[in-house]
Amino acid sequence: MPVGAPVASITVSDHVFRAPKGTRDILWPDSARWRALVDVFAEVVGSAGYLEVIPPMFEHVEVFQRLGETTDVVRKEMYSFEDKGGRTLALRPEQTASVVRGFSEHRPTLPYKAWYAGPNFRYERAQKGRFRQFDQVGVEVLGPTDPHLDAEVISLAWRFYERLGLKEVTLLVNSLGSPEDRARYVEALRVHFTAESDALSEESRTTLEANPLRVLDSRREADAPLIDAAPRMIDHLSDDAAAHFAGVTSALDAVGVPYTVAPRLVRGLDYYVRTTFEFAAEALDAAQNAVGGGGRYDGLAADLGAPETPGVGFALGVDRTLLACDAEGVFNAPAAAIDVFVVDATGGDEAVVVTDLIRTDGLRVDRAWDGRSMKAQMKAADRSAAALAVIVGEDEKAAGTVTVRDLRGDGGQETVTRDQMIQTLRARLR
Ligand code: HAM
Repeated sequence: MPVGAPVASITVSDHVFRAPKGTRDILWPDSARWRALVDVFAEVVGSAGYLEVIPPMFEHVEVFQRLGETTDVVRKEMYSFEDKGGRTLALRPEQTASVVRGFSEHRPTLPYKAWYAGPNFRYERAQKGRFRQFDQVGVEVLGPTDPHLDAEVISLAWRFYERLGLKEVTLLVNSLGSPEDRARYVEALRVHFTAESDALSEESRTTLEANPLRVLDSRREADAPLIDAAPRMIDHLSDDAAAHFAGVTSALDAVGVPYTVAPRLVRGLDYYVRTTFEFAAEALDAAQNAVGGGGRYDGLAADLGAPETPGVGFALGVDRTLLACDAEGVFNAPAAAIDVFVVDATGGDEAVVVTDLIRTDGLRVDRAWDGRSMKAQMKAADRSAAALAVIVGEDEKAAGTVTVRDLRGDGGQETVTRDQMIQTLRARLR
């Protein structure tokens, strides 16, 4: 090809790779906001003595089968596969089972208060706010049955939303009772729905056979009247479970966390007993407004090989929480990634030294590359959204000075010695 021929005529490949369906790239500034969200979470739960745990991203598939053979998560959505060693593994669809498996393996001292942040994988119908790879932040506590602990866990999530600036989050709480209460309630539901199963949607008739509790989760219009008339768990609680639930709600009252008791709140995973809860962001569409949820899972540790150890926790969806922040206009992304942009009109060598000096002092600094013109470098400085430019021309180089220019409005400029540079930058950034 002759030198200077139009580059556009070259077809390197007609295939542009895209991220798989249900996944996406989080580019800056969203990535910065993402990290900031996890930092806020770590601070909030750290202040209550929770320590970080980093579980593996895949487990033996049996670990996740404990989430419930009839749940969508296990039946339809699990990324399970056989590895080259013939093991059947699954990418984690959530982290509670992993954290509890880790607890069962290592038996840390009780109470074990852990927090985590990271991706999960579910083969769901991808849409806004519903991804196949999505991130959660969450906590799990193993050991106590104390209802005050349930209230602590719930209020930590609440305080976290508050710290982000979210105002339109509502909290729904319910109790599923003891395993025996739950079994009795499931039977009552079976009787209720079976008596009029003709009125149910076809999907819910199938669900009814596998797990009557899950019918309550249906959002199909046809099912609404029968669901409204269904027995309420809260009326089927044993005295013990009712007292536990009263302990949770009175502790929430005491710390001023507002909630609504939602007698038909059932969660999509089967390990829950007693307290369950969900956070809804009212600023989002109803289909994806569940920004977090959790509850008690007193039988899970024993199911995964540990001695009987009660547990409680929650997970909050990072993707959806940030969508809720967008909708409410809070917890905004940062405007700039750097503080200072170095413009070097002497050919580039000065910028090598000056950026190193500024960086070493702890400020964030960038520069232009490839010997661009002064005009192009100033344009790049503006685009970077840095507050200040440090400009080095031939005169400054000869005099051992730099010019510091304020890029915000008409901030003016001054020429200072190299020794004064950092001090000047810091004073102007204040
Ligand atoms: P979960 O309700 O399945 O509970 O998920 C918790 C949160 O993760 C949801 O409220 C939602 O914000 C987010 N989430 C779930 N699936 C998706 C998805 N496909 N796309 C985007 N966000 C999603 C659990 O995972 C339990 N492990 C919570 C827990 C912890 N219970 C006790 N401890």
